[in-house]
Amino acid sequence: MTNHSIALIPGDGIGTEVLPAACRVLDAIGRRHGITFTYEQFDWSCERYLRAGSMMPEDGLDHLRRHDAILLGAVGYPGVPDHVSLWGLLIPIRRAFNQYVNLRPIRVFDGLPSPVSAATPGEVDFVVVRENTEGEYSEIGGRTNRGLPDETAMQQAVFTRTGVTRVVDFAFGLAERSGGRLTSATKSNGIVHTMPFWDELVAERATEYPAVDWDQEHIDALAAKFVLDPARFDVVVASNLFGDILSDLAAAVAGGIGIAPSANLNPPREHPSMFEPVHGSAPDIAGQGIANPIGAIWSAAMMLDHLGHPEAATHVTEAIARVLATTSVRTRDLGGTATTAEFTSALIQHL
Ligand code: NAI
Ligand code: MG
Repeated sequence: MTNHSIALIPGDGIGTEVLPAACRVLDAIGRRHGITFTYEQFDWSCERYLRAGSMMPEDGLDHLRRHDAILLGAVGYPGVPDHVSLWGLLIPIRRAFNQYVNLRPIRVFDGLPSPVSAATPGEVDFVVVRENTEGEYSEIGGRTNRGLPDETAMQQAVFTRTGVTRVVDFAFGLAERSGGRLTSATKSNGIVHTMPFWDELVAERATEYPAVDWDQEHIDALAAKFVLDPARFDVVVASNLFGDILSDLAAAVAGGIGIAPSANLNPPREHPSMFEPVHGSAPDIAGQGIANPIGAIWSAAMMLDHLGHPEAATHVTEAIARVLATTSVRTRDLGGTATTAEFTSALIQHL
């Protein structure tokens, strides 16, 4: 029997609805694989921010440090600026725990039609590796002459040799292990300092992975190819901003933001990694019990894989695929009528 201690941060809105679904699936798969989970739940959220003035307590990170992994729902609440929820919780966790890889797999499932006619089930199955700690999302910059005609805003992107090298190495390693091709997202024609540097480092690291076939694409052309020919990709490595946009686009190609998972990984395992669906708190449907739990459940499967249970992880993703392929049980965003709980029960039956 292996026990894992998991920090749960449901957050706001549908985050509090999809996380219990993920835990039900974890407990069910755990029973079949001799794994148990001890959960500690934290109420860190925009609701807490409105009540207590901060998204999490000052010693929040120390509470998380004790756990093997973190499972997060979503944060965001009308009336609380989105930069508060992001910079008050998610970004501090990603940076303090050096979760420098944001892994976002995407798959077109049988039984879940893609809005893109070129996306055939079984053929579209790739992963976006997003740099998660630096790049365009930096705190360096400022505003001058506020309110005046010559008001100016400047934001400094930060690309370091260490930061780029480690995420590119992770992506090459993934491509090597899976026998896939690596595509690097760039924009070195328009962005003339950071992106040529990114390209140079990708080319430099490529020499260490002679078996991996790789290329680079400008982000604008790459976005078009995600729609026109999504089956051509295996591993896509991108900076923080490019990876953020590409992975939402990829999720849409696969049939909806509600199914997309993500892992914020600390590959050297010095700190806990964090697993969360790509979607937000969806205030428009929150409180109705109809949110699609697939993104959260798939994220929990990625957590199982990271914790050393690849077989259990595969059983969960196979169960997702089987429910979609062999039943008509769907939540409303996928054209069905099932509630979050009903879909989760159907999935557990297919484990
Ligand atoms: P969103 O992902 O919350 O919702 C976009 C649309 O997709 C909505 O129509 C929503 O109903 C639908 N949707 C999303 N997830 C769904 C699911 N699991 N099942 C069914 N339908 C689903 O993005 P939006 O509206 O841009 O942001 C809402 C709030 O969430 C904002 O405060 C935003 O800052 C926050 N947010 C938080 C994220 C996080 O915690 N990592 C990520 C993205 C947004
Ligand atoms: Mg995003």
